[in-house]
Amino acid sequence: MASWTAADLPDMTGRTVLITGGGSGIGLITARELGRVGARVVLGVRDTEKGRRAIAGMPGDFEVRRLDVADLGSVRSFAQAWSGDLDILINNAGVMDVPPARTADGLDVQTATNYTGPFVLTNLLLPHLTDRVVSVTSQLHRQSKLHVDDFDWRSRTYHRMHAYRDSKLAVVLFSLELQRRLTAQGSPVRSVLAHPGIATTSLAAHSSANVINRFTFLLNDPEHGALPTLYAATQDVPGNAYVGPDGFGSIKGHPTVRRPGRAGLDEAKAQDLWRATAELTGAGR
Ligand SMILES: NC(=O)c1ccc[n+]([C@@H]2O[C@H](COP(=O)([O-])OP(=O)(O)OC[C@H]3O[C@@H](n4cnc5c(N)ncnc54)[C@H](OP(=O)(O)O)[C@@H]3O)[C@@H](O)[C@H]2O)c1
Repeated sequence: MASWTAADLPDMTGRTVLITGGGSGIGLITARELGRVGARVVLGVRDTEKGRRAIAGMPGDFEVRRLDVADLGSVRSFAQAWSGDLDILINNAGVMDVPPARTADGLDVQTATNYTGPFVLTNLLLPHLTDRVVSVTSQLHRQSKLHVDDFDWRSRTYHRMHAYRDSKLAVVLFSLELQRRLTAQGSPVRSVLAHPGIATTSLAAHSSANVINRFTFLLNDPEHGALPTLYAATQDVPGNAYVGPDGFGSIKGHPTVRRPGRAGLDEAKAQDLWRATAELTGAGR
């Protein structure tokens, strides 16, 4: 079978998609492609001016709204202001290996951006969702040693890359637990995971070990990096699918359904993490 590309996207006319971090990187490419095939695309971005500049001249039905996924106040106001159906939510926004900092809510910035904020956003938008939630994770979740009882890094010495890996395992645990809950409720909504492999975006801009800029020929370009998200958002994949590149080590290539790391399949850990996150944020109870 020929490799799947954005040329294989179906007509998305009449569908509404929200993509967080849609103003740059893989998120912008995902937004551009979904807009190209007719979707109404809402970009949830922290800098609306930058978002508007990014979509200027792009053909399609786009709307830029302010959303800082690391700030629970911003997440709550965004979700409260949402009206009508939301067919597809794409939790794409993320940061990696950024300097340690706490948000206005006192949360670890990296964990809040990649996991805690998207947990709250998804739970608050669930009543509007008709089709699916796509959560973007990373192969690095396989190397995580997530401490569920301290997932927000309050009692341990902070390690930037460990925090990134842990946040991405938290995304996997969350997405699969969400699917179990949706199935138990008889909901038709799916919860699906995607990962871009390693793609040459600005994600590693803060990273001292910046392999991304040194070995670009081994990696996905951003266009290919967006394909797993586009595939997960539009293809008939099962509600717990993990979509990533089909190449060696799932680093580059075309999208296919793969298996997440074993730690991601731990149901007891997923339930504990859900409870701990609900306790911390008040969402998802
Ligand atoms: N590139 C890779 O190799 C790779 C590998 C595995 C997973 N991923 C994941 O793929 C996703 C997209 O990353 P990327 O590679 O496209 O990186 P990127 O170019 O750095 O884009 C990240 C996006 O997230 C947005 N963002 C960051 N913090 C935010 C916040 N608090 N609120 C709202 N938006 C925020 C950024 O907005 P600004 O424009 O305002 O900065 C940007 O649009 C991330 O979840 C990342 O972890 C990427």
